[in-house]
Amino acid sequence: MATVSLKKLTKSYGPVAVVQGIDLEVADREFIALVGPSGCGKSTTLRMIAGLEDISDGLIEIGGRKVNDLPPRSRNISMVFQSYALYPHMTVRENLGFSLKIAGAEKEEMDRRVAEASSILGLDQLLDRRPSQLSGGQRQRVAMGRAIVRDPDVFLFDEPLSNLDAKLRTQMRTEIKKLHAKVQSTVIYVTHDQVEAMTLADRIVIMRDGFIEQVGTPDEVFRRPQTRFVAGFIGSPPMNLHEAAVDDGQLLFQSGERLPLPSQFKANVATGDKVVFGLRPDDIYPTGHGISSGEDADVHQMELPVTVTEPLGNETLVFAEFNGSDWVSRMLNPKPLKAGDRVKMSLDLSQAHLFSAETGKTLRG
Ligand SMILES: Nc1ncnc2c1ncn2[C@@H]1O[C@H](COP(=O)(O)OP(=O)(O)OP(=O)(O)O)[C@@H](O)[C@H]1O
Ligand SMILES: [Mg+2]
Repeated sequence: MATVSLKKLTKSYGPVAVVQGIDLEVADREFIALVGPSGCGKSTTLRMIAGLEDISDGLIEIGGRKVNDLPPRSRNISMVFQSYALYPHMTVRENLGFSLKIAGAEKEEMDRRVAEASSILGLDQLLDRRPSQLSGGQRQRVAMGRAIVRDPDVFLFDEPLSNLDAKLRTQMRTEIKKLHAKVQSTVIYVTHDQVEAMTLADRIVIMRDGFIEQVGTPDEVFRRPQTRFVAGFIGSPPMNLHEAAVDDGQLLFQSGERLPLPSQFKANVATGDKVVFGLRPDDIYPTGHGISSGEDADVHQMELPVTVTEPLGNETLVFAEFNGSDWVSRMLNPKPLKAGDRVKMSLDLSQAHLFSAETGKTLRG
């Protein structure tokens, strides 16, 4: 059993608290992704779990056992970093076996575990090479192999793919997913690539300024963001977000443009309230060129001037001006459009989000 439990976990450097009392329960074999902007405390949190960083306050339990004061080697965790940190003078085989060797493992046991990790990660042909003779992706695989041979209860990953080019990253992402299915360990995976988080994780933890902003499944954080911050952070291209004032059953934007108040929020706001209106690019489309949600009751039509288009092959992103800035929409069966064209857009307001401008919290009931 390798649950991980963080209770009021805090880290301060002098007077500055960089992790501010976070609570998190990770289930056995769960894959958790920790995301958030640079400096929000992701690596610090991971390093405290690993025991590489003292904690200032709170409690860390792994498998129900308090580990606050245990050294890293006694926590039965393996950590994989962004820099692979392989030993350059050792072969792949020696790199894989090194931690077992210093732990005093028998040669037979060592060979068996190295062979197992090598076969899981497809390293068999590379065992006699040195790191300098490997590609970036192969090196990262060796780094993961080194983590696997120790048969840890918990894997901790700190942006393991961020040194790889986009194509390799996508491949390795798939491999990590397969790996998790095979080894069935608990994983805590730090990334600031939200696509990585969405595709890999059972649950995503979104951090901001040392606090946890929201914890949820990929579907929950995408469809039901609890705050404006999460709404803007999860999703690519990002959600369109605009400040507005509630005015007599409508949303009044700074530019003077108006939209009907989405009906799911009517009970929760009153005239004069300052709000932030959000709509994903998937829920705005040039009329006739998107997938309507089926119930067209809450689809609002308006004509907007196109500023720029980005053809992506299977779809085109259409940027149109709304409320003084660009509004991104998706056109699923692309037709040629050019800047300046006025296009009739369909807005699926049943999918809209509304947040308090003051607190940033959702106004969903
Ligand atoms: N040894 C240190 N002394 C003082 N401040 C530190 C120290 N280490 C980290 N910090 C600060 O703690 C905060 C959190 O750092 P951390 O490395 O956890 O961020 P992160 O979320 O991993 O960011 P990134 O995405 O850039 O890796 C940052 O503001 C950082 O400057
Ligand atoms: Mg970091």
